[in-house]
Amino acid sequence: MATILVVDDKDMMRDSLSLALARAGHKAVTTADPSEALGLVRQHRPSCVITDLKMPKMDGIELLQRIRAEHPDTPVILMTAFATISTAVQAIRLGAFDYVQKPFEAEEIQVVVERAVEHGKLVAENQAFRANAEATPPKVLVGDGRPMQEVQERIRQVAASSSATVLISGESGTGKENVAQVIHSQSARAGHPMICLNCAALPANLLESELFGHEKGAFTGADKLRKGRFELADHSTLLLDEISEIDLGTQAKLLRVLQERAFERVGGNVTQNVDVRVIATTNRNLLDWVKQGKFREDLFYRLNVVPIVLPPLRDRVVDLPLLCEHFLARIAARDGRPQRRFEPAALDLLQKYHWPGNVRELENICERSVVLENGEMLRAATISPWIATIGVSAPAIHDFAVGMQAGEAGIGGGVLEELERRTILKVLEKHNGHRLRTSRELGIGLRTLGMKLKKLKDEGVLVES
Ligand SMILES: Nc1ncnc2c1ncn2[C@@H]1O[C@H](COP(=O)(O)OP(=O)(O)OP(=O)(O)O)[C@@H](O)[C@H]1O
Ligand SMILES: [Mg+2]
Repeated sequence: MATILVVDDKDMMRDSLSLALARAGHKAVTTADPSEALGLVRQHRPSCVITDLKMPKMDGIELLQRIRAEHPDTPVILMTAFATISTAVQAIRLGAFDYVQKPFEAEEIQVVVERAVEHGKLVAENQAFRANAEATPPKVLVGDGRPMQEVQERIRQVAASSSATVLISGESGTGKENVAQVIHSQSARAGHPMICLNCAALPANLLESELFGHEKGAFTGADKLRKGRFELADHSTLLLDEISEIDLGTQAKLLRVLQERAFERVGGNVTQNVDVRVIATTNRNLLDWVKQGKFREDLFYRLNVVPIVLPPLRDRVVDLPLLCEHFLARIAARDGRPQRRFEPAALDLLQKYHWPGNVRELENICERSVVLENGEMLRAATISPWIATIGVSAPAIHDFAVGMQAGEAGIGGGVLEELERRTILKVLEKHNGHRLRTSRELGIGLRTLGMKLKKLKDEGVLVES
């Protein structure tokens, strides 16, 4: 139900309009006096205003202008007995949503009102998107090591071109969305909010209408027109997160938008043209998906115009001190407390960890340390249980993997099993054979550790001293 303000000096007109609106499920607020209208708009925030053109105190055009000045998003519908082309044109030029010519049928005005109400909702939705975008702090890309410098350079180049499609790939938590935000905010499109859609979150049929919108009545449940993300992103950037998850049917439609920047809403036949930069992200190897027939090759090439590959954190541990500094400063600012620091031994430990959750995991560890430590220094002892459960450094894994490829014989079993053996031995050695401490650090129960050690002994790997 929407609230509609009706302004007309004729009692009969106000009454019959109120009735027609009530039948359509809306609530009418009425006044005979146009000079009262602005106050009523302020008070009731109506979804639209219907006003007569000819009224004694103030004519509809003047009222239209006043409403437009104060509430530019409130649609105004004019009623006129003298619908000459020129008044109609003038009204529309001054920002009227539409006009109806008297006498009119109830149905006629109901249709126009529905459209106006719908329009108002879309505007509000857009504003919510905008407000959301403004509320989040500006994104920064921290990291001064070689890999990040290259990414920064790529971002500078791609931000300068305002339409090139970008494909950002990288493991989960490497900062793909972050990079997309930075590209958008450095580009000529920064004045508009970036629109995002997580493609993995929706089933195929919903995804399509989310992307392209749908007309009223396009399918059961489509009780109103809805703009899709492409339309909402007009003049802006559209981030398609986890693009690999799009079904093949929607892939074909996406291909067309990328080629022609044109599409139709679901259930519609009017071609919509949009000016959008698309940024897609993926944490899968899309080329593999192409080979497996899960992703269209032509779409891949359309997306991969400018590729940006975010290296995993384990390959850029040089950035760790700066990243920690960044996160700890942000936490301190948020909590209104002095900034904490990791002691050197803790930083050392962080640099040896292999970071399966990448930057997001680091962010979490910073947060957790601040919560659990009271002093200014964040100690190695505090963080070691969290990161030692895996306990093997990236280089160790790398050396090991290379060794396996080169044919270095394992003791039997797969790569993971061998890694586990080495990890257990390492942690056990660190704790001088103390089983309880070892099991805690490994994050497994004492009994499980006992079983694993027995197996190692049986295999002759472990010799009890
Ligand atoms: N270089 C960086 N500088 C500062 N913050 C970063 C950086 N990289 C990532 N972050 C932060 O780490 C967190 C994870 O980043 P983001 O969400 O962009 O990762 P993602 O690659 O999109 O992850 P997923 O694949 O899980 O969606 C965010 O809070 C982000 O702000
Ligand atoms: Mg993401």
